[in-house]
Amino acid sequence: MELDKLLAMPALLALLLLYLHFMRRKIRNGIQNLPPGSSGWPIVGETFKFISAAREGTPVRFIQERMERYDSRVFKTSFLGDPMAVFCGTAGNKFLFSNENKNVQVWWPSSIKKLLRSSLVNKVGDEAKMTRRLLLTFLNPEILRNFVPKMDTIAQIHINTHWQGKEQVVVHSTVQKYTYALACSLFLSIEDPLHDSKFSSRFHRFLKGLVGFSINLPGTRFHQAMKAANEIREEIKKIIKQRKVDLEEKRASPSQDILSHLLATPDSNGRFLTEIEIMDNILLLLFAGHDTSRSTLSSLMRYLAQLPHVYNKVLAEQVEISRAKGEGESLQWEDVQKMKYSWNVASEVLRLSPPVTGAYREALRDFSYADYTIVALDNLLFTRGSQALRESRGFRRVEV
Ligand code: HEM
Repeated sequence: MELDKLLAMPALLALLLLYLHFMRRKIRNGIQNLPPGSSGWPIVGETFKFISAAREGTPVRFIQERMERYDSRVFKTSFLGDPMAVFCGTAGNKFLFSNENKNVQVWWPSSIKKLLRSSLVNKVGDEAKMTRRLLLTFLNPEILRNFVPKMDTIAQIHINTHWQGKEQVVVHSTVQKYTYALACSLFLSIEDPLHDSKFSSRFHRFLKGLVGFSINLPGTRFHQAMKAANEIREEIKKIIKQRKVDLEEKRASPSQDILSHLLATPDSNGRFLTEIEIMDNILLLLFAGHDTSRSTLSSLMRYLAQLPHVYNKVLAEQVEISRAKGEGESLQWEDVQKMKYSWNVASEVLRLSPPVTGAYREALRDFSYADYTIVALDNLLFTRGSQALRESRGFRRVEV
């Protein structure tokens, strides 16, 4: 055989395999009637398109554009190396919530799972229920109402330091200092975190690598985040060591913060979390509680600046509550309950600008939704579930 014909054979074979691969996918997609959409580039999928929309402050744009393009309330995409279906609208929310542990279960991207190791994000079924219950026995209104005076003190210090007398305040970066101080105090009783710049800079490196590709190579954000998470764990470990002594010697109370709560309270099986589980769950809470609160406060400020009539009503309500209090008396739960108008404003802000763009679910089995087939990984090409939660426009996603 001539040399050029010989050389052409592997190329032809590769083309044939490629053709067969695409035909097989096409046939599968056809038979299974997968949702419309594009899986984007190999591996990266549509990750960068989503991230650039999020960086421009319009993560919803990514979803809306595709809903319109495909004229569908469910579409497929690929994000962070995982194929997904995005469930949109209140019907999507309802479907996913009512199918928990039936057709879908909680799922998180691999970067989050690797960084938050033995925390709630890596638990499923009964184990997840028990850990969730354990966290919620502290994070419930009955307990949190006792922290209102502490939150008030932190807010006053924050306002006096960062707002009072300033011509201009850059809200998003400034309120971050408040939510961070609050988280450190409520979770670990660290009362002056701003002075602990090491802890703060580690925390920010950790946050930066949480949602992204989980490539653990020097120089990547994920690698930095892994390093930062380990350094934070070391810090928390030292605090745990001291706290155990303080609890034993009654210098600390079992309800003074989430750390004491987790050290002193067993789950419903009578098992105490290990030190590693405690550290990982505190890291999870720092992540889950910090950016959400920061984003809500920033949006609230933006709406108040844009809507002076709303601002004036909020101000009037706050001034009235403050006038009824004695000099130096801190805010109590009863005062918070009087903030009816302010609470409605906060709820409306959450509805209009929800701080969380979406959440995830994994498909446990093949199922139908909106006349499309959502396919689980074990059975075929596509898997995993993710759900996005928006109170106002209500969408939710599930990876196919
Ligand atoms: C406006 C504020 C907040 C919003 C909008 C918000 C929203 C969400 C959403 C959408 C999820 C995913 C739920 C799911 O997949 O079913 C979630 C999970 C979670 N959030 Fe929040 N969150 C907020 C504040 C907080 C705070 C302050 C904390 C802790 C102090 C917290 C702790 C958690 C935890 C631990 C999880 C995982 C729960 C689980 O797997 O059951 N969140 N949050």
